[in-house]
Amino acid sequence: MSIPTVRLNSGYDMPVLGYGTYPLRGRRATDAILAAIESGYRLIDTASAYGNEDAVGAAVRECGLERAELFVTTKLRGSDQGRGSTRAGLEGSLTRLGLSYVDLYLIHWPLPRVGKYVESYAEMAQLQREGLIRSLGVSNFLPEHLAAVVAETGIQPAVDQLQVSPSHSRPGLVHEVAQQGTVVQAWSPLERNTGVLEHPSIAAIAARLGVTGAQVVLRWLLQRDITVVAHSGDPGRQRANADLFGFELTAEDMTAVDAVDAGIPVKQDPATWEEF
Ligand SMILES: NC(=O)c1ccc[n+]([C@@H]2O[C@H](COP(=O)([O-])OP(=O)(O)OC[C@H]3O[C@@H](n4cnc5c(N)ncnc54)[C@H](OP(=O)(O)O)[C@@H]3O)[C@@H](O)[C@H]2O)c1
Repeated sequence: MSIPTVRLNSGYDMPVLGYGTYPLRGRRATDAILAAIESGYRLIDTASAYGNEDAVGAAVRECGLERAELFVTTKLRGSDQGRGSTRAGLEGSLTRLGLSYVDLYLIHWPLPRVGKYVESYAEMAQLQREGLIRSLGVSNFLPEHLAAVVAETGIQPAVDQLQVSPSHSRPGLVHEVAQQGTVVQAWSPLERNTGVLEHPSIAAIAARLGVTGAQVVLRWLLQRDITVVAHSGDPGRQRANADLFGFELTAEDMTAVDAVDAGIPVKQDPATWEEF
């Protein structure tokens, strides 16, 4: 299975679908990542905060592919933000991964109260110039956070990884970010299988097309030009979740999935959410 790519503003290509490694750790994580790579995933999404960068590194070494064939994303955790500590944060990640560079480095959360995301991003720009990062990105950044880092550095983030799913379709936010040339990447796209995959509107489309609810949701995101990182620890579900390129949702299907959003705001509001 070959997963298409999108060209980022950095000039690098990123797969439109990636494998999310949270919450697995240790050998279970490595085995799950190896199975995902076997199924065709090339983007592996991890974070310093997940405690599994060592397991990702093991999979990269064991999978038998060239480093250049993989796209590895990791994230700067809150406790490493700041002018003096961003470099150490990235170097720690690279050491645990056993890599000389990451394809994409994200600021995990803006933490506006702490007030260090702009200086962290400026430091990341320096680390990119040194070749340790291919593409600069952010996660959970609202338009005002994007504007602040662009004002300081002149570099538009290549990617903003945001919580987007049928219950939180966030059309205004997605539009505002995308129109600046930043690629939106959805996290928790399947809402961690807490019910949305069986929503009657989604189940009806899945039954008609002969696919799963998860495939409908992931396809709905891709057809909105939103890239995705999705997790499954199960090789069968990993495979099915990546099998998205042989069917299409109609305009009516898209509207039906859009209508699943009942307007309940996300719990982890980036304006106030803090994790370190
Ligand atoms: N930037 C951020 O702040 C942030 C926050 C959260 C997550 N993330 C990233 O985004 C990735 C994905 O998000 P997520 O892991 O939170 O949630 P998710 O991908 O929406 O859901 C994963 C859950 O859905 C289940 N699942 C997967 N495929 C399924 C299918 N076809 N049918 C039924 N259930 C299925 C999985 O169970 P099984 O394992 O049993 O299949 C797992 O429990 C994470 O792994 C992480 O890399 C980023």
